[in-house]
Amino acid sequence: MSIDARPSPDFTGSPAPLPALLPVPASLPEGDFAARVRALPVLGLGVSTEYGAAFARGALDLRRLRREHPAFAQFLEVGVETVKGLDAHTHEWVAEGRPTTYHFLDVNLDDPDDFTPAWLDEVRHIVSQIRPAWLCGDAGLWHFGRREPGTMLLLPPILTAESARAQAWGLTRLRAETGLEVLPENPPGQVFVGDLHILDFFARVCEHADTGLVLDCAHLTIYQHFKGLPPLTALDGFPLDRVVEIHVAGGREASVDGYAFIEDDHTPDVLPATWEILEYVVPRAPNLRAVIFECERNPVDACLPGFARIAEILKSSPLLGGSA
Ligand SMILES: [Fe+2]
Repeated sequence: MSIDARPSPDFTGSPAPLPALLPVPASLPEGDFAARVRALPVLGLGVSTEYGAAFARGALDLRRLRREHPAFAQFLEVGVETVKGLDAHTHEWVAEGRPTTYHFLDVNLDDPDDFTPAWLDEVRHIVSQIRPAWLCGDAGLWHFGRREPGTMLLLPPILTAESARAQAWGLTRLRAETGLEVLPENPPGQVFVGDLHILDFFARVCEHADTGLVLDCAHLTIYQHFKGLPPLTALDGFPLDRVVEIHVAGGREASVDGYAFIEDDHTPDVLPATWEILEYVVPRAPNLRAVIFECERNPVDACLPGFARIAEILKSSPLLGGSA
């Protein structure tokens, strides 16, 4: 279904009023998402990192990957917790003028109290350093209680209409504060609560914030498994023209005290359901501009088959076909 054709969701209930938004800076193109997305660059196939990840034993060697396999390292998604800043590998990447995206790791989008002037100053400062093509991040709970290093985690949002509206508020606010597109990502989780399927939830978030989506195929596999659903459930009703970026990552089935779940372990071992989702979405996502293989803590050689398979699938992409 196209963006324009999609009916407005029927939001029920009486959510608490949220503070007014700031005007959108002049640097953001005019128009609705369907118009603005055309101004976003096509980044291709890339990798992700977060502070210190590249220093870990056995981690992905960014320099070697971009030297020997530049088609798999076309951009870097930088995971940012503002209190930590940027590590040397990210500084080196940026100093060479290479493209980035900014993946936030420290904001609860549905909480107006999280948008403190100090945090926003830090975000804008890091934006000025890495000049990302856009911001993105899992739309969930990145901390429980106050934002401070000891409370950081990631929980999925409550999957309700009211929660979708609150997440959309935060996305719109951050877009206004940075002058950049801000794309929500469907998060992982061991448990999900709420009456909406996660894809229906994010369709509402995107509609309300008038924005695009980072579809994490591995996270969607985790959710479908939790619900006991086939991998492609609800994708036929999702507006795939909202998908701007895709994540692919490995996972493994785990069990604790008899409770079975899929762990989002970011190994190169991508589950069959995740491949199935990727193969379904790529040719149907006309605005897809970036794909990441999230394998930052694994050696290059172990990741090459995954990169190669993703690159092959991207040949069916309207924008990325043949670029990797
Ligand atoms: Fe992801």
